[in-house]
This record gives sequence, structure tokens and C-alpha cells, in this order.
Amino acid sequence: MEPPHTKGQPVSYQAAVTPYAPETPSEPVPVILDVDTGIDDAMAIMFAVRHPLVDVQAITCVAGNASVDQVVRNTQQILDLIGAPEIPVAAGALRPLVEVPRHASWVHGETGLGTVDLPPTQRTPEPVHAVELLRRTLAATDRPITLVTLAPMTNLALFVRTYPDLLERIERIVFMGGSASIGNATAVAEFNVWHDPEAAHIVLSSGVPLTMYGLDVFNRVVVPAERRAALKASADPIEHTLGALLGHVAVDPDSGHSFEYQVIGDAGAVCALVAPDLFTFEVWPVQVDISQGLARGATVVDRRPYDGGEGGERDSEWRPSAIALQVQVPAVLDLFFDTVTGPAANR
Ligand code: BDR
Ligand code: CA
Repeated sequence: MEPPHTKGQPVSYQAAVTPYAPETPSEPVPVILDVDTGIDDAMAIMFAVRHPLVDVQAITCVAGNASVDQVVRNTQQILDLIGAPEIPVAAGALRPLVEVPRHASWVHGETGLGTVDLPPTQRTPEPVHAVELLRRTLAATDRPITLVTLAPMTNLALFVRTYPDLLERIERIVFMGGSASIGNATAVAEFNVWHDPEAAHIVLSSGVPLTMYGLDVFNRVVVPAERRAALKASADPIEHTLGALLGHVAVDPDSGHSFEYQVIGDAGAVCALVAPDLFTFEVWPVQVDISQGLARGATVVDRRPYDGGEGGERDSEWRPSAIALQVQVPAVLDLFFDTVTGPAANR
């Protein structure tokens, strides 16, 4: 079924819940990944490169979980680990548009890959900025490309403002970010959006069709403890690395609060691209709060079945987004592990 926000159509707001049921792709989807690798970005890269329905054309890196140089290194080391072919990788923004960088080292460890220590890479990053790699890849394509962003959206916002004419070459932006319920960086804001709210605001109001893979589903795809332990005990380098990433224990130095990573996180957003039937989506208007108040960095999802109310009608800053709200956890875990470690993986 066609979503109400198919590219090229004017924005129209639904008067009630609009389900969105994208079809499972029948041929490889050309994709650019935008990452801040990161424990779960690493898992997403492994899945995307190994899945036959994803054609990773470029990877752009941004400061987020770690500094951008570290993110580039981590990305290349993960590509090495899985024996990936040469994929252009470029460094992008060093910091958010307005905010100072606030790396998530307490969650992802000092390097961004927890306790995983991979050999130095021989890969060399592209000698251009991520925004130029986006331009080059989009300008060269004869098929619209899906942008999958798993990080603060600084690179994408710079791209939107620099090359607006190329936006029509983007099929859709699938973003891990935001939430229609709970936050993680704050009570209501998710890390990627909170880290650079202005960038997210620019990207979400760019007019490109959107799919939001937020904390509503992100937090639910938990790898059971026995499976994490078995992976960590494996002699296979990829399985062992997955086990170490998933078993990483994050400790907040201020509060002492700790947790084991456990979720496939960003990788779930790529799963939603290739197997949308494992998720339930609804289309709702979304806007990022860029005020300096309590809700800064929150994705405000207007789930009222009408427009208007005492606060007035929604303006053009509210853009409809297909939001993943339910997930079939066991099936997504099977998809993830069959792709990354199963016999079908290109190993
Ligand atoms: C997001 O923030 C980062 O720490 C993770 O890599 C993920 O993209 C979750 O809020
Ligand atoms: Ca990430």
C-alpha cells in the first residue's frame, strides 16, 4: 500500500492512525550508511554488508558515540573483520551544529567498541568530507538511494543545506533516532537526536520521506543472555566479537548505574529495511524540539487523531514519518544472526 507521504506528493496529514506496510524489497536496495560506530553501529554495518538485499554504496562517519576519527577507524576495522569489499568511507562532522560534542563513552567504552580490540586497518578513508561523498554517490546514481542514518544527523543536515537539489535522489531516510515514548539521553530525548537537535530538525523537515526506528523498538530487540554467552565463548572471530560487543557493561561514572548492552540496537533499523513485515509501522507527524527547555532533542510525535486544538493547527514543520512501533523480536534476532553468522552469510 502507498504511504500518504510518497515522494513528490504534497504533505497531507491523516485524521486517524495510518498504518504503513512497505513491501519487502525484491532486489538489493542501494544504501548509504551514516554512522557513529559504536557497538550497535558495528552490528548494523555487519548486517548491512552481509545481507543480500542491501547494497552498501558508501559509509559516512560523524562524531557521536566517539570522535569522528575514532568512528572512521572503528568502521574500517569492522569492515576488515567481516572481510568486506572496498566500500568508500569518509569522515564527516567533528561536532554537532550548535551543541558541543558529548561522546557516549560511558555506554560504548573509550574507543566506541567496548572492550573489543581489533587489528589496525590498512583501509584508507576517502580524501573528501562525508558531505562530498554523499554528493558524489547521489550524483552518480541512476536509482534513488536510501539513506540509513544511525547517528547524530550532523552530516545529513549539512548535506541538506549544501545540495538541496540532490534530495530528490534520496528514496527515503531511515533513521535510528527519537522515540514516541521514553528517552535515554534525557527523560524524553533519544541520544542521536539529543546530540544534535538542530541537525535532526533540518533533516526531519527536509521533505524526504522518513522512517523512524526509535527507542520504542530499539530497546526491545534483546539478545538472550545464553546466546550472548555462547557468542563470547566462540572461537570464530566474528561470533566472538559480537559476544564481546553485546556483553559490554556500561557504567555511568556519575550515578554508578550500569547495564549490559544486550540489544542489536542500530542493526534493527537495517532489519526493518529488508524485512518490514517483522515490524508494525504507523504514520504520524513528527517534529524535533529545538527549544532550550526540558524536552530539547525530543521527537514530539503528534498521535492525536486530529489537527488543531487550542494550540493551533500543525504547520509545515510537522512532517509525517512512518514510525516503527512494534517488532517481532525472535524473528528479527533470527534474521540478524542468520545474516551475520549463519551459513548463508558471505563468508
Ligand atoms: C543510539 O545512540 C547511540 O549511542 C547508539 O549507537 C544508537 O545509535 C541509541 O540512542
Ligand atoms: Ca549509532
